[in-house]
Amino acid sequence: GAPVKVDVSKIEPGQLIRIEWQGKPVWVVSRTESIMADLKAHEGKLRDPNSEEPQQPEYAANPARSIRPDIFVAVGLCTHLGCSPTYLPDSFAEQVEGVKSGFFCPCHGSKFDMAGRVFQNVPAPLNLMIPEYHFTDENTLLVG
Ligand code: FES
Repeated sequence: GAPVKVDVSKIEPGQLIRIEWQGKPVWVVSRTESIMADLKAHEGKLRDPNSEEPQQPEYAANPARSIRPDIFVAVGLCTHLGCSPTYLPDSFAEQVEGVKSGFFCPCHGSKFDMAGRVFQNVPAPLNLMIPEYHFTDENTLLVG
């Protein structure tokens, strides 16, 4: 299918928007500096903090799992059995102590951080999938 265009200047700091790409939900999140700083604080609780799994674009194989630190793009499907995790921008600490924001899968309780990295001791085996994407200018993201 054709790439999907997103104007990232319209996403508020901390906001998540949903688009559809190849029939899948894709999230685009504007990560604030405080979200970025938090990513480092809980790496000991993650299954694969450096995202070394092979089945992903090269730009996802790093702790931020993104081309740009401020824009996070991921397929919004749990890597366990494909439910849609819920974005908890302010109340994720109820799921993982000390971590302010993240994604919680209501089906069987998998938890992912703001880089889509899976926490330990949950059913999901892998970090969230990152789709093919690129930027054509500062504000224009093309997914696919
Ligand atoms: Fe998400 Fe099972 S589908 S935890």
